Amino acid sequence: MTKKIIFLGIETSCDETAAAVIKENEKGTADILSNVISSQISEHKKFGGVVPELAARAHLENIEYVINSALDESKLSLDDIDGIAATAGPGLIVCLTIGLNIGKSIAAFSNKPFIAVNHLEGHALSPGLETKIEFPYLLLLISGGHTQFLIVKGINQYEQLGTTIDDALGEAFDKTAKILNLGYPGGPSVEKFSKLGDKTFFKLPEPIINRAGCNLSFAGLKTAVLRESKKINNNEQMKYDLAASFQNTINNILYKKTKIAIEMFKKKTQVQKVKLIVAGGVAANKTIRKTLTKLSKEMKCEAIYPDIRFCGDNAAMIAWAGIKRYKIKLLDKINIEARSRWPLDKNAPYMKGPGLKL
Ligand code: KG4
Ligand code: ZN
Repeated sequence: MTKKIIFLGIETSCDETAAAVIKENEKGTADILSNVISSQISEHKKFGGVVPELAARAHLENIEYVINSALDESKLSLDDIDGIAATAGPGLIVCLTIGLNIGKSIAAFSNKPFIAVNHLEGHALSPGLETKIEFPYLLLLISGGHTQFLIVKGINQYEQLGTTIDDALGEAFDKTAKILNLGYPGGPSVEKFSKLGDKTFFKLPEPIINRAGCNLSFAGLKTAVLRESKKINNNEQMKYDLAASFQNTINNILYKKTKIAIEMFKKKTQVQKVKLIVAGGVAANKTIRKTLTKLSKEMKCEAIYPDIRFCGDNAAMIAWAGIKRYKIKLLDKINIEARSRWPLDKNAPYMKGPGLKL
């Protein structure tokens, strides 16, 4: 029997301070020995969004406790760990540096291998924590900072099929929540309040829906929400109707664009039985899951979602990506630096800014 690898993962790219100890198992998935997350929701709530300096300070205050808790809960000591993985990007540099530096220090003083993980690869591989999935698969990555369709060909091998040309989907949820004063964090509150509204009440735009392949755009939708919100005054019901109409528009956009992405995936890979993985913080949204499951059934595909606890930022997915990279000898040097921008497909065109032709 081959030795099963155990990794400590550390994540501080945005507003969650997280550490986890993960062990691969006989099934080819992971035993979650610990998965500790210290959320900073209360610190950022009054500002309606993440304040980088506050986030960095909170990471610094919490990181030691979070790592020690992850080790304690796993009932292992550092000696039992085969390697350390920490998120090195993309994200806020002031935040990334804290987890990355502590990860590098632990690896250096314990003389263990170190892996600098791309946060997006963490999300991309996160369903593998619970389900063994063969490559290639189609990934819809929807989070606070990213919205992308990718072919996942293997560890470290990604081909981007489409992305947002402006706001990320999570950002659109967060901004809508802010406009409607629904509370922070935005995604879960829009989902909650949209259940109380009439989803057909407001007619909202579906930007670039009939062009640009599976690329997406949400800026125009956000502007429309802002414009319509001016008609609401203090009518609570209309507020819920607008939240519901926003959620419904998102569902329609994702339905249509994912359909295009599935066709593109089939053409490029020649794989007909497509596995669609939906990952990232927004993948926690139940009506999005329902919509994409319906689409998958219609297109004879299989939709797979990570468990809710692995959708938002966590260190289990970072440790898991670390194990996967370690096994194919993708180790990093201790002088590696944090990166604010780090696309999974380095050949993908940059899709933002003026002059963009679609
Ligand atoms: O992956 P994540 O935790 O952090 C990033 O890597 O960005 O994603 C956070 C995003 C936030 O924008 C949050 O509002 C959104 O995910 N989110 C949701 C839901 N839960 C979290 N959006 C819609 N519905 C949800 N239930
Ligand atoms: Zn994330």
